[in-house]
Amino acid sequence: MKTLKGSSVFLLLLLVFAVSAVSAEDGFIGVNVGTDLSDMPNPTQVVALLKAQQIRHVRLFDADRAMLFALANTGIRVTVSVPSDQLLGIGQSNATAANWVSRNILVHVPSTNITAIAVGSEVLTTLPNASPILVSAMQFIHSALVAAKLDSHIKVSTPHSSSIILDSFPPSQAFFNRSLEPVMIPLLKFLQSTGSFLMLNVYPYYDYIQSNGAIALDYALFRPLPPTKEAVDRNTLLHYTNVFDAVIDAAYFAMSYLNFTNIPIIVTESGWPSKGDSSEPDATLDNANTYNSNLIRHVLNNTGTPKHPGIAISTYIYELYNEDLRPGSLSEKNWGLFNANGVPVYILHLTGSGTVLANDTTNQTYCVAKEGADKKLLQAALDWACGPGKVDCNPLLQGNPCYDPDSVIAHASYAFDAYYHKMAMADGTCNFNGVATVTTSDPSHGSCTFPGSGGRNNTFINGTSLAPSSNSTVSGCHSQHFHNYGFLLLSSILSSLVLWGAA
Ligand SMILES: *[C@@H]1O[C@H](CO)[C@@H](O)[C@H](O)[C@H]1NC(C)=O
Ligand SMILES: *[C@@H]1O[C@H](CO)[C@@H](O)[C@H](O)[C@H]1NC(C)=O
Ligand SMILES: *[C@@H]1O[C@H](CO)[C@@H](O)[C@H](O)[C@H]1NC(C)=O
Ligand SMILES: *[C@@H]1O[C@H](CO)[C@@H](O)[C@H](O)[C@H]1NC(C)=O
Ligand SMILES: *[C@@H]1O[C@H](CO)[C@@H](O)[C@H](O)[C@H]1NC(C)=O
Ligand SMILES: *[C@@H]1O[C@H](CO)[C@@H](O)[C@H](O)[C@H]1NC(C)=O
Ligand SMILES: *[C@@H]1O[C@H](CO)[C@@H](O)[C@H](O)[C@H]1NC(C)=O
Ligand SMILES: *[C@@H]1O[C@H](CO)[C@@H](O)[C@H](O)[C@H]1NC(C)=O
Ligand SMILES: *[C@@H]1O[C@H](CO)[C@@H](O)[C@H](O)[C@H]1NC(C)=O
Ligand SMILES: *[C@@H]1O[C@H](CO)[C@@H](O)[C@H](O)[C@H]1NC(C)=O
Repeated sequence: MKTLKGSSVFLLLLLVFAVSAVSAEDGFIGVNVGTDLSDMPNPTQVVALLKAQQIRHVRLFDADRAMLFALANTGIRVTVSVPSDQLLGIGQSNATAANWVSRNILVHVPSTNITAIAVGSEVLTTLPNASPILVSAMQFIHSALVAAKLDSHIKVSTPHSSSIILDSFPPSQAFFNRSLEPVMIPLLKFLQSTGSFLMLNVYPYYDYIQSNGAIALDYALFRPLPPTKEAVDRNTLLHYTNVFDAVIDAAYFAMSYLNFTNIPIIVTESGWPSKGDSSEPDATLDNANTYNSNLIRHVLNNTGTPKHPGIAISTYIYELYNEDLRPGSLSEKNWGLFNANGVPVYILHLTGSGTVLANDTTNQTYCVAKEGADKKLLQAALDWACGPGKVDCNPLLQGNPCYDPDSVIAHASYAFDAYYHKMAMADGTCNFNGVATVTTSDPSHGSCTFPGSGGRNNTFINGTSLAPSSNSTVSGCHSQHFHNYGFLLLSSILSSLVLWGAA
């Protein structure tokens, strides 16, 4: 018995380590900062908004000097980009690359926490003539970082459109467009050898609209599906409850098809437009709010994907501001979470302390122990919340504000509420085997403040303090960031769905 137990623990550990080789860290939510606005707030205003919203990670589409200075000493982690128009020069000359790094990176570190450089944007699909020099550009930039001893801190990668993945449903059959292999293979080797990650742009919105109804809106929006509607990968028998996960797993499988199994994935863009013209009826406030709220919860919960459960997929939401100057359809201008004046376009369903982009001021709810609940069950739930649930139960210790009243029901209420808010009040996080219940009255008492109470720290700050300035110091030049529509990807999801329907 003993040896059996020992060896299964060993096996389990092996499995844990094997999986954590992909990525052991907690997922984060970042935001893309596009600057194609007629009223672009100045960098100080942008940073004020980021701080007020507790946004700790941003991606810039360039390496704007003023913006990077404004981000100094804020603790905000920054992914900067090599704009596509500078790519050719950098890919052809290591001196040009070294020069770019010294002008755009070295002057800012360490006060600005630059953690990654995105070399170009969707180069393989939007700038095919630059594809042959893409990997050299990445290598040259990396060499310059090595010379500056920054390579372990700043990772080099390049964002891809998910349309480079073909046959992406079922995910287990996905592969990278074969004509891109001459670039993808050295690219993946580079990412692997430098400990970097695959950057992927994931747009379930486009997958959904191009499926002509074959993909359910709920499936794209992370809404709960009846089990019969879940997509099942017939090879792996993994169940997919949303498009986002299916695309990520397709990317994992496409990499493993080329024998790369340990490169983590980061989503450099994902979002949903809140407004569109008459031909874009699904670009609504409600859908945008639902998608982004669910996406944020999904990422911060470290849910992972069916192929790699528990391996977080950090994601940058596209995007911070509505960009009124972007060309194209009305929806193109309406991917933002905020207007130029810092007023939210919609209020995410994300109340709760400790989360990004939270709104705590109205309709607050709390999670408390049920009146008359079984004491043993309460105690067990309390122990779970303060243990595996990772709630900070320090306030419950003797001498601390929430010690009194010293009863299981009072302590459990505090711990339940702390867990509930830690989980961004997600459905199902106030249950605790039925001994917990949601309430709208604030259970705080005396100096014991329950999580979610007051909560003024997380709210959207006053729009007025972010009034747009006509004299923005941010360069008006906007790098390209296109959305690509994975047509084949889609048609394969489509045909698979049809197949399941028939089965
Ligand atoms: C910069 O970001 C890295 C990666 O997230 C983090 O480990 C480090 O502590 C940050 N440094 C500062 C000074 O905030
Ligand atoms: C660029 O490459 C050449 C040879 O290929 C090498 O001699 C030179 O040191 C490199 N320069 C930099 C700045 O890395
Ligand atoms: C694969 O990539 C090539 C080269 O970029 C492109 O011409 C072709 O359309 C792509 N194939 C598919 C099916 O997307
Ligand atoms: C991946 O590895 C398998 C088994 O070692 C090998 O047969 C296959 O050719 C490899 N594929 C690539 C693209 O290197
Ligand atoms: C959070 O993750 C757990 C498993 O780790 C999962 O059971 C639960 O459904 C997830 N919740 C959300 C809101 O994604
Ligand atoms: C917070 O969210 C609620 C419900 O979503 C909304 O009615 C309210 O206006 C929001 N609070 C603020 C300050 O915008
Ligand atoms: C408050 O939240 C509940 C449950 O989430 C929701 O049904 C209700 O519409 C919300 N009320 C307001 C004013 O937002
Ligand atoms: C808000 O933040 C301040 C300082 O950051 C802190 O002292 C205060 O306790 C916080 N208030 C709440 C309700 O979390
Ligand atoms: C927000 O702005 C209004 C007027 O624009 C002002 O009355 C109010 O005090 C401000 N609130 C905060 C928290 O700054
Ligand atoms: C913007 O700059 C112009 C001159 O360049 C100046 O006249 C104007 O007062 C400035 N506006 C603001 C709001 O600073």
